[in-house]
Amino acid sequence: IDKLCLGLEPQTQVRFTSTTSAIKAQTKNKTAKAAKESKTFQVIQEERREEAERSVLISCPPKINENKFLDYLSKHGTINKHFFYNSYGAYAVVEFSSRESIASLKESTNIPAVEHEAAVPFKSRLLSLKWPGSQSSNHPMPKLKEQSPPSINEITQLLSEKDTIDEQLHCLTETLQLTEENISLRFLVCSLLRDIAGAYFPECVIRPFGSSVNSFGKLGCDVDMILDLDGIYATSQKKGSGLSLEYQVKRGASERAVTQSILSVIGKCVDQFGPGCVGVQNILQARCPLVRFAHQPSGFQCDLTANNRVAMKSSELLFLYGQLDPRVRHLVFSVRCWARAHSITSSIPGAWITNFSLTVMVVFFLQQRNPPILPTLDRLKELAGPSDKCVIEGNDCTIVSDLSKITLQQNTDTLEKLLQEFLEFYGNFPFNKASINIRKGKEQSKPETTALYIQNPFETTLNISKNVNATQLERFVALCRESAWLLQQKEILKQSSDSPWGFTALLLPSVTSGAGVKSRRKRKLEPASSRIKNLLDSLKIKGGETVAKKGSA
Ligand code: GTP
Ligand code: MG
Repeated sequence: IDKLCLGLEPQTQVRFTSTTSAIKAQTKNKTAKAAKESKTFQVIQEERREEAERSVLISCPPKINENKFLDYLSKHGTINKHFFYNSYGAYAVVEFSSRESIASLKESTNIPAVEHEAAVPFKSRLLSLKWPGSQSSNHPMPKLKEQSPPSINEITQLLSEKDTIDEQLHCLTETLQLTEENISLRFLVCSLLRDIAGAYFPECVIRPFGSSVNSFGKLGCDVDMILDLDGIYATSQKKGSGLSLEYQVKRGASERAVTQSILSVIGKCVDQFGPGCVGVQNILQARCPLVRFAHQPSGFQCDLTANNRVAMKSSELLFLYGQLDPRVRHLVFSVRCWARAHSITSSIPGAWITNFSLTVMVVFFLQQRNPPILPTLDRLKELAGPSDKCVIEGNDCTIVSDLSKITLQQNTDTLEKLLQEFLEFYGNFPFNKASINIRKGKEQSKPETTALYIQNPFETTLNISKNVNATQLERFVALCRESAWLLQQKEILKQSSDSPWGFTALLLPSVTSGAGVKSRRKRKLEPASSRIKNLLDSLKIKGGETVAKKGSA
């Protein structure tokens, strides 16, 4: 746990626990300082959004002179930050210190003359740098920042070099988490999209939510976006003669119908006018209507929704939990990675458990520790100040935004212990009769007969895992039991340089998935060493990726 405290990521503002009094004292000071300095979720989002508005995305030729490139752009104003990355070609993100620089840059940028085709003359902040070939040949491309996650093989290799499971889980988070550059790129893509939607709704904002901002995002995850039209409703209520004016508006049959019509028009614009936006699909009949597309220059898969404020609040809630104790993020990253490796979660919608549900399950588990590592959602509501009050469509979504108001109890469990107990907890959870409720931090009796019932934190009559069927839940439970068992085996705990050990052994394809009693009986008869050998043997490497056993659902 001491290592855990010292190895904190800079963005993690926490109250942590430690075993020695010296570190405790140090921690107390640090905690008070961190809490004072910590920014609320909204402030962080707003700062990033504002940075994105002062940024441009430039497609670059393969070889450029970085200094010359920066000199050229600096003519339009001071550059705060920049970085290069590769996405089927080199790109640069350049953030100016003032928005005027963008206007100046745009003035000196041309609409290209297109041969055989015609250009839509939409002036976006996605640009292409034209560089005379002769001037660039002697310059290698500047260092490119990686935007993709490492392969399972690379992760396994990295983790195998660690000394303890706790170190492995730290390393996993550090390797998979979104980088500062990747987060900036996500906000920039939202801002580029806003320029398109802004043609219809000048007051609109497009904000990222979900794993782009909840602190649990992994490199390569999709960008969930909300078209936020709330700014349109803000009016100045001037007192005076009693007269007032209203806009004449077109009406729709329901909120949902209006959301669908707005998204369908914006979707069409993104498709026809949005440079770099391809594969646009309007998925308007979904429970939460959305426009899905790929943004080629960033390599992001994007889901644009509207009228979805509760989802943003859920992202804030998860972010808050992730900030309270560093073990939360480490455990969530490891559980998400473990579940993905075993196809418990999937990128395709279906009857599987989602990452969102899995994260809520981790939060619930951490509320159950003795003493608890995380407070209940009701407690977060009690601590809220007047400015935190938030009611969305009749649901009270109030939570405290100031982290320094939250006092945590002393709990010094190691990550290894928490992972082990997480697996045992859900391997034995009475899913048939109990529901998971992070608002109360207690199991509740299940109000309906769905396989898995996880109460929606803010829309409390809804179940966020309604989609999960009994087979998928059984697979999850069986895997929890198997992994818990595996983690107890000495062979797994013993570090050995030539074979996966500790957490990496849990990522190997399950030999029992989809099977039930038979494999469990087999497990009893076999010595642990031969089972691990089986597990190792079943590791199939294809194109650098571990192929989890298919069809086990
Ligand atoms: P990834 O799998 O990494 O994309 O995780 P994610 O947290 O971004 O999940 P996803 O893209 O599926 O959903 C985006 C956000 O929508 C989540 O973080 C939640 O805030 C919200 N969300 C997703 N599924 C549900 C659900 O079933 N119910 C509710 N209320 N919100 C959901
Ligand atoms: Mg997502």
